[in-house]
Amino acid sequence: MEQSDSNLAKEKPADVPNTEGMSLGQSGARYNQWLGKLREAGILKAERLLPEMRVPVPTALPSLMGRGAAREGLVQEIKALQPWGYSIQLAPGVLTGGAEALERTVYRSHLISGAIREGLRLCGRTPQGATAVDFACNHGYFSLLAAELGFDAVRGFDLREVNLRKARLLADQFDLASATFEQRDVYTYEGQADVVLNLGLLYHVTDPVRLMELSFAATSTFCIVDTITYKSPVSAFILRTNKDQSHHAEGAYNAELHPTYRALIDLMHAAGFVDLMEVVPEARPDRACHPLYDKSDRRCLIGFRPGAVVERLPG
Ligand SMILES: C[S@@+](CC[C@H](N)C(=O)[O-])C[C@H]1O[C@@H](n2cnc3c(N)ncnc32)[C@H](O)[C@@H]1O
Repeated sequence: MEQSDSNLAKEKPADVPNTEGMSLGQSGARYNQWLGKLREAGILKAERLLPEMRVPVPTALPSLMGRGAAREGLVQEIKALQPWGYSIQLAPGVLTGGAEALERTVYRSHLISGAIREGLRLCGRTPQGATAVDFACNHGYFSLLAAELGFDAVRGFDLREVNLRKARLLADQFDLASATFEQRDVYTYEGQADVVLNLGLLYHVTDPVRLMELSFAATSTFCIVDTITYKSPVSAFILRTNKDQSHHAEGAYNAELHPTYRALIDLMHAAGFVDLMEVVPEARPDRACHPLYDKSDRRCLIGFRPGAVVERLPG
């Protein structure tokens, strides 16, 4: 589930006169007050500390969403797997969610496929002859995006079997057999792939250090990390509690550690990644891109293994 700094707002009681007497349950409100002070002091800005990888993010539907044909029973199968929380077109006019959610998926779809293409180019590689793994694949959409790009094999896994049923429906519908799906806790993964997709997962765990070490060990070329980030200009993790583990897009615990932008960079460096870049959309004069990425409440970084990059990087 996508969240952001602004998500903390809903923890804020209507009237918080001061911090005295504030209960532990109001720690979100207290954090909001602190953020307010940082904002007033002009130090809660979106920092940009990395070279940018600019990728095209058009508004058109990705070609993957155009692959599926209408068929009898499809709508019922989609309904039987609700809630989706994500909007994906499975056949012309047949979607798993609404228009706003579709816009998010389309945006992220182009951002991630652009990052994969450009990352491979910088490493002098093509998807042909390469493998990918999608940690925490949920509906499997991003695994299938990689499969459509032409990777030899893509493995997607997720904590929850209910999500994998969605992934298998998508794989059948898009007719992409090179992607396979299994139920697995990411912390049990021991394999390696050329490209690792670590998307929407880092803010759902309680051991981000181990997750990033594992991501590095699993990567033979580069890893894409797409996550919520907080803007506070410190390298830190913000504790979030009272999470609903019965929700298909949440983590394994009812607590999570969300990284600040600086913590994300430090964590990736500490795990061993070098040549970090931030994946950003090429300018789109037509309209804003995405409410979370635009405000830098969510960011997408790519980290390469030492020696993987053969092109000279900018910056
Ligand atoms: C917000 S969704 C992200 C889905 C997809 N990767 C994306 O970016 O849209 C988080 C997913 O992580 C999965 N997940 C959470 N903790 C996990 C773990 N320890 N191992 C494997 N999957 C996990 C959840 O089941 C959920 O499908």
